Parts: sequence; structure tokens; C-alpha cells
Amino acid sequence: MRNKIFMASIFLAAAVFSFYACDDSQAGGDNKKNETKISDGSASTAYTPAQVERGSHLVLTMVCDDCHSPKRLGPQGVELIPELRLSGFRQDGQLPPLDTQMVKNGWNMFAPDLTASVGPWGASFAANLTPDATGIGSWKEEQFFKAIRHGISKGLDGNRPLLPPMPWQSFSKLSDEDLRSIFAYLKSIKPVHNVVPAPKSLSALVAAR
Ligand code: HEC
Repeated sequence: MRNKIFMASIFLAAAVFSFYACDDSQAGGDNKKNETKISDGSASTAYTPAQVERGSHLVLTMVCDDCHSPKRLGPQGVELIPELRLSGFRQDGQLPPLDTQMVKNGWNMFAPDLTASVGPWGASFAANLTPDATGIGSWKEEQFFKAIRHGISKGLDGNRPLLPPMPWQSFSKLSDEDLRSIFAYLKSIKPVHNVVPAPKSLSALVAAR
């Protein structure tokens, strides 16, 4: 089963297309001018503007927005909602009506803006990666490393494993410096209050229909 979930995760990650317009102004380009000290709150960490900028580039090119940013239909098609960027599945969001037979038949499905997906593991909801208390606001750098390197929810020992389609298996190969830069950037963006729902098992989804 674990293997199946892992395969599904790889497959989904490969299947996600980066087709959302995401210009630099949406992508936190204004952080370039951000002179405030970015750190994880502990005395030992303080990130440089160069790290924050590198993190911005990595977040953009590694398509974190595909899954973690709510989107809407604009005049040019699907677009990010700048003020909600990287805040995950909306706390008041609804999944479209679910064809559980399709899931039982082996299909995986994405919500229209890709912030939620349903597969053999149940339903998973993309996390809030902004520095609000409901996101990574209280996270230490060590937690972020543990979450990405070992696929552990919130990077806290004893927590559940991260579910697909979060491609942590691939991201775990990033260098310390790249991971640190991504974390520095996430700590620098606008905090968004959004309590992402907990994942649901497949049986709970079937029962709820
Ligand atoms: C293919 C979709 C997808 C992509 C791309 C993606 N994520 Fe995720 N991510 C998710 C989902 C879904 C979850 C929630 C998983 C769960 O609840 O177990 C998640 C969870 C996380 C978590 C754990 C949050 C927590 O509260 O434990 C972190 C950290 C994270 N993602 C960071 C990133 C970063 C950084 C990027 C880009 C470099 C990224 N993700 C790209 C789907 C994705």
C-alpha cells in the first residue's frame, strides 16, 4: 500500500503541469525590496536578502504554486489570487461532487485549482505555507527540513507521514542551502490566515456522499 501511494505520488507530481500564469509581481517580486530581517525566530538564524531571492526563484520554478496557491478564473484564464498566494486549500473550500467509483477504479483526481486531490489515500489538502500562525509562522528551520527530507507532517517527530501528491521524495534531494533559501522565502511572504482541513480517508469520503 505504501508503495502504491508512493507511486501515485510520483505519478501525480509528474502529471501536474505548470500552466498557471505567475508573473514576478504575483510571485512576491516585491520581496526584493524587503529589508526586514527574516529568521525563524531563533537567535542562530537570520537570512540574507540573497537567500530570500534564491528561495523565491526555487519556489517559482519548482511549481509550489501549482498545488499550494488558490486560483480563480480571470480574463486570461486560470490565475493565482495574489493575496492568497501559497496559503493552501481554503478553510471554507468545498470539494466538487465526488465520483468515488472513479477513485475505486484507480483514478486520482484534482480539485479545479489543484489545491486538493483525491486518490487511494483519500483526500489531501495542500498546506498553508505562509508565515501566519495557521501556516509555517511558528516553524523552526529544523521542522521544515524534517518535513521535506522525511515527509513528516509539520516536521514534528511522531506526526503522520505527508500524503500525496506532495512530492517530498523528490524535494528531499535538495541541498541544505536550497532548502534553507526556500524556507527563508516562505518566512518573508505575506501571512495569510487559513486553517487547512485535515485529510480524509477514502471510507470517510464514501460515507459522506
Ligand atoms: C503536486 C502538488 C504539490 C506540489 C507541487 C507541492 N506541494 Fe507541498 N504539499 C502538497 C499537499 C497536498 C500537502 C499536504 C499533504 C498532507 O496533508 O499530508 C503538502 C504539504 C507540504 C508541506 C507540509 C506542511 C505541513 O503542515 O506539514 C510543506 C512544507 C510543503 N508542502 C512545501 C512545499 C514546497 C516548498 C513546494 C515547492 C517546492 C511544494 N510543497 C510543492 C502538495 C504539493
